[in-house]
Amino acid sequence: MDKALKKKVLIVNGNGPIRDTLASIMESAGYLPSIAPTGKEAIKIVMNSAVDLVLTESYLKDYSGVELKKRIKRISRKTRVIVVNNFSVITSSDDVLRFGASDYIVDQRELVELIRYSLEEKTPVSLPVTDDELKTCLIDTMDILIGLLEVNDPFFSGNSHVTMEYAKSVAEAMELEKHMIDEIIVASLLHDIGKIGVKKEILVEKEELSENDLASIRGHCENGVAILETINFPWKIKPIIMHHHERYDGNGYPSGLKGREIPLGARILSVVDAFAAMTANRPHRSAVSNEEALKELHGNVGTQFDPEVVEIFTRVVETKFSYRSVTSRAKVLVVDDEIDYLTLLKLKLANEGFEVDVTDNGREALDMIRKDRYDLAIIDVGIPGKTGMDVLREMRQDSEVEDVPFIFLSGMDEVESKVEALHLGAEDYLLKPVNMKELAARARNIIRRDSRRKKTETGFVNPGVVGDLRNLGLTDIVQTLHLGLKTALVTLKNGDEVAKIFFENGRIKHCGYRDLQGETAFYELLKWENGDFVIEHGIRTKEQTVTMDGMQMLMEGLRRMDEEARDKAY
Ligand SMILES: [Fe+2]
Repeated sequence: MDKALKKKVLIVNGNGPIRDTLASIMESAGYLPSIAPTGKEAIKIVMNSAVDLVLTESYLKDYSGVELKKRIKRISRKTRVIVVNNFSVITSSDDVLRFGASDYIVDQRELVELIRYSLEEKTPVSLPVTDDELKTCLIDTMDILIGLLEVNDPFFSGNSHVTMEYAKSVAEAMELEKHMIDEIIVASLLHDIGKIGVKKEILVEKEELSENDLASIRGHCENGVAILETINFPWKIKPIIMHHHERYDGNGYPSGLKGREIPLGARILSVVDAFAAMTANRPHRSAVSNEEALKELHGNVGTQFDPEVVEIFTRVVETKFSYRSVTSRAKVLVVDDEIDYLTLLKLKLANEGFEVDVTDNGREALDMIRKDRYDLAIIDVGIPGKTGMDVLREMRQDSEVEDVPFIFLSGMDEVESKVEALHLGAEDYLLKPVNMKELAARARNIIRRDSRRKKTETGFVNPGVVGDLRNLGLTDIVQTLHLGLKTALVTLKNGDEVAKIFFENGRIKHCGYRDLQGETAFYELLKWENGDFVIEHGIRTKEQTVTMDGMQMLMEGLRRMDEEARDKAY
């Protein structure tokens, strides 16, 4: 045989005569042998040439056979390694070898056979994949991909997954066949895919929609089906997607189907989709509680929704998803410098119904915590620059944010930092990689406990400082909050009239009264002589309608009032 084609076998043995005997056996069997007296020598040979098989005794001078096998595998995964108890040659026969401690005697032909068998190309054993496994794999892939499409959307992150979970639970509670449950799962993941064809400004930014805008939104059912048209799904999902906005009374779209004409999957999706939307923050309104959303569903039974589906879904929410009600749309900040892990955390927490903001550095995390009210911060200990521990330490010294609950994530199980974190008041210290379901459950428990604590401490959540404007006028309130660099919401009430002024670090950031905003609203409010005020500390807003300095605005307001009074006097 051509030398280049011969398989290379390395014999590793501390005993010279045995080594040589084995080498000559290998050579006569058609292999290309090499020899090494120690593990280190063997490693050198494996590093410098492609060895197909190593035959080593189990006790070498430097390594054990098992240790040598591990090292060789690290250098060359393809090399096969056979570890055999010590060899000794039985002198009475040239052909027979004795395998040491176990006293196992093997014919030299058997040894060659063993080596030949070890070197045979083996195709990896693969079990046939079942249809069910393939379907599950496809569904899970869709779930992840749709989640990633939504993950950076401030309003729709996690929406499809949450809707799917509700729809799946209803289908299971109805004891539908597995195939139909899968159909509903897939349709609910893909149901709004047609919104890709609707302009973002219509979906998110516009408050008042024209007839054209509405027609464009309504087109998303047919759009969705058109996008998926060429895919031959093993489920009948297209009718569900097409009809998920039909109404039970026949006044829906696109076809005006009525009652049981509407596919069951679409009737389920219609109910759970409405519930998921109501319990999430949307561009022009805040989330409502599970109870309020269920009430709304019940109010529209028979007109918009299928009564049976609503009844079953109510039971599902109460039994299976009641844990979500207290913490629905809880706001969580996640900080990690491993961007892929950060995205994964965001995706999984959004799928659990949390509103999630993320950043990859400690400095920004601290700014975000100061600017926005978070229900929980989840921070990696080892972020560069300002570490997780630094962020926690600074938070604890700032009365505005000292009570934000905190979970640490860490790649290393270090007792010292764990103890320090717990001393600083961290709620939990979890080792990466964390189980996402467990993290979500822990987060939920912490937020629930924290909101209960706030309730018992204060009697009710954030009662604020309450007073009469006749005793403390708006001018005094502005000056006090300005001097104290406070972040707070001041609500003024006079009969049915309500106005809100947001302060951030002592500066007025947003002011709203009736249709008025910013400075104009503020000048009007300065005129109030009667009414009540409530000051709630730590409440923030994202809106900014005031740009002028607060004190300057106060002076300007007072000047205008003087002017008006003078005009009236003339
Ligand atoms: Fe839709």
